[in-house]
Parts: sequence; C-alpha cells; structure tokens
Amino acid sequence: MSLRISQTKSPDFVGKEVTIRGWVYRLRKQKENAFVLVRDDRGGVIQCIFSAEKVAGLTIESSIEVTGTVSQDARAPEGGYEIKGKSIKIFNVAEADYPIGEYQSDELLLDKRHLALRTRKMVAMAKIRATVLDLGRRWFVENDWMEVTAPMIVKGAVEGGSTLFKLKYFDEEAYLSQSAQLYLEAMIFSLGPVWSLTPSFRAEKSRTVRHLAEFSHLEAEAPWVTLEDILNVQEQLVSYVIQNTITQRVEELTYLKRDLADLKKIEPPFERLPYKRAIEILESKGFTITEQDGSKREIRAGDDLNIDSERELTKDSGKPIFVVGYPLAVKPFYVKEDPDQIGVGLAADMLAPQGFGEITSGGLREDDIVSITERIKKEGLNPAAYDWYLDLRRYGSVPHGGFGLGIERLMRWITNADDIKDTVLFPRTMSRVAP
Ligand code: 4AD
Ligand code: MG
Repeated sequence: MSLRISQTKSPDFVGKEVTIRGWVYRLRKQKENAFVLVRDDRGGVIQCIFSAEKVAGLTIESSIEVTGTVSQDARAPEGGYEIKGKSIKIFNVAEADYPIGEYQSDELLLDKRHLALRTRKMVAMAKIRATVLDLGRRWFVENDWMEVTAPMIVKGAVEGGSTLFKLKYFDEEAYLSQSAQLYLEAMIFSLGPVWSLTPSFRAEKSRTVRHLAEFSHLEAEAPWVTLEDILNVQEQLVSYVIQNTITQRVEELTYLKRDLADLKKIEPPFERLPYKRAIEILESKGFTITEQDGSKREIRAGDDLNIDSERELTKDSGKPIFVVGYPLAVKPFYVKEDPDQIGVGLAADMLAPQGFGEITSGGLREDDIVSITERIKKEGLNPAAYDWYLDLRRYGSVPHGGFGLGIERLMRWITNADDIKDTVLFPRTMSRVAP
C-alpha cells in the first residue's frame, strides 16, 4: 500500500522505507543526483533524491511510484523531510511540453484549466471549497432544516428575464434555473424549513470579478418566519462556516495569503443598515452612478446598489452588513411589501466586508394572491406561466421567507480571491464554456 505524502512527513517514518505515488512536480538534475519534487493526489509534496541515471528520461507531470527511505533534513524543501529513492516505477512518461510552468498568464491557466487543477493554488481552493460546502450542510442538519433538490429545467423566470438561458425542451421552450426559490416555496407547506444546494444559471452579459454564468447556489426557505428570523439564520450560518473553515483549513488559507485575523472577527450580529441610510451615506460621499447611455449622475433614493456602491459601503467594514428595505422597484416580483412603508420591500442583502459586496439576497415573500398577481403583471411576466406558484397563495398561504447565498461569492471573500473564477474549478462565463 502506498502512503499519502502528508503521512510520510512525520518523525515516525524517519529511517523507514515507504512507497508513495504521484506526479513529478519539479525536477532538478545535477551531474550525479536528481531532485524530484513529487506531488500526490491531495496536494502533498515531498522531495525525492535519486541518482541521475535512474531518472534520466523523467519529465514534469510523469506519473510515478517511488520507494525509498524517509529522512529528515532541515534543508529539504516542503517541511524538512525527503525520501532517498531506492526504486522508481514510471506509469506514464509525460510529453515533454507540459504547458504549465511556474509563471503563466491567467488566460492560459483558464484555457488549460483541466491541467491547472494540479497547481497548488487550485488544490488549496478546492479543499477550502469542499470544507465550506461540508460546513454549510452541517449547519442546516444541526439546525433541523431539511435538504431538498429542485429541478434545474424550468418554465419561469425568477430573477428577471434578461439573464435566462433558453433551451429547447423536446417541442417546447424551457430555461435553466436561476434560483430554486419558487420550488422551495412549494415545499415548505409539507416539509417545513428546507434548503438546497444546486447550480443556478445566469446569462450575465457583464464581465465582472463576481459574476459567473453558472454558480453554486445555497438556498433556504421556511414558513412562519419574520425578516429578522431570516437575517439571524444567515448571520449564524455564515459565521459558523467561516469560523470552522479557518480552523480546518489554516494551511490552505495561509498558502493563499489570507489574513485569518480578519475572518476570526466574523460573528453575529451583523449590522442592519436601512437601505435609505445606505443611500444617504453614498450621497454624502458624492457617489455617482452611470446611466445606461453612459452619462453620470449622483446616486439617489430608488437606485439599486451595484458592485461599486457596495464596495464603497463595505470597504472599511470588518464584518458583513445587511442592507435592509430595498425599494420594491429594484427587487423581483416575489418580494413582500413592508406593511408600514409603501413601496419598500421586506428584503435584505448581505454585503461582505472589505469591498467584497453582495453574497446573499433574501427576505419575506408576498403571500397574498391579489398582490402577487399584480406584481407579476407589473414585471411584464405572464401570470399564466406562474399558475402553479400562485396555487401556493390560493391554498393555505402563510407568511414565509428565505434567502440565497452564492457559494463562489462567499469563497471569494473567504479566500480573498481577486476574481470569482479562481474559486471554481471549471468556471463558466460569457466568454468561457470550455474546458
Ligand atoms: O440575489 P439573487 O439573484 O437572489 C435570488 O436568486 C433569490 N431567488 C435567492 C433566494 O431568495 N432564494 O442570487 C442570490 C445570490 C447572490 O446574492 C449572489 O451571492 C449569488 O446568488 N449570485 C451569483 N453568484 C455568482 N454569479 C452570478 N451571476 C450570481 N448571481 C447571483
Ligand atoms: Mg441579489
């Protein structure tokens, strides 16, 4: 049985013979000796020393099995352990033109993503991501939310028609799901608080560092809740995920140069900033927005927040902020109107600190059949297409709400990644659908 490289790097194995399997990560050949840095399939790396002739034909990314004796040497890279190689078995001699070296353009790394997965950065990202997903699931299990799965092929828009991906579904037209929300709403009547983790698809025409065409969407929905209940769930979930990720993934986060002290501060409560107040803050800073025709003007009440205004609001904050009470006009048809403030939605977005911006959207849903039908029409949608959804308001409607969290947005913040594409193994954007 071969060992994981991380297992061999221990005083227990010093002087003992071990067998490891992996790939040639770096190769330095001298006259007599060759230093082969071997990488395994969980990110472990160790130097193996062979006589130069034994590894004469070896190339970068050749797959190998090494048997040798572990020794401790402070000069050895990767933590002071190395293997004095006795024998080497080569499974595949990689072609000599492996396209990824130490320094590569971002574009090349995206074109060769199937190979770039082998870089330490991508391995660190993938491990953190696995932990984030595991912890998200744990939080819901521990708090008695039930996991469900919604269909990804749907007939109706949730988040506006402009970002729908159309698809030919046998003889009719269907879309890729933008959000599982409407289906989760149907489930709460018999399943109580539910959550799902599914891909969501958005035909985002904008190229930004925080938009993907396909992202991992963690969504939750529950009956008989208040807006405050929904905010509590979000701040607890996000804090739990972050606190446990930073203890379980210190090595990977440190490799990515993430300042862990910043993340340690993330605990409830998060500030609730009324939307109106957010606009006042932006106004007082003379914040301008760009109109569709390219002209600029000062931001004013009624405007939606965007990537720039969110950055402005959060660049100096240490913890996430909930912006609460967006105008109905900038939110989708399902948002419930605040009975105490006409035109104001019981909706909130969580903005991550240090400029990262929106990572969740959620709130209460309009549960009155007349109001929601009006709102669907107002958004230019056809109520007939939402007939099944309207049944939820016809038969035993209840106050309810939920939220959606973008896993890659959360990952971008946790890992301090410049670009959201770094947080996912095979990113999908307007300009990239392969590999
Ligand atoms: O704000 P959004 O569009 O809200 C909804 O879809 C609700 N129906 C969710 C719900 O209440 N169940 O999307 C929710 C979150 C955003 O806050 C963001 O984190 C992420 O999903 N998101 C994206 N992430 C990456 N790329 C995109 N194009 C994204 N669009 C939304
Ligand atoms: Mg949103």
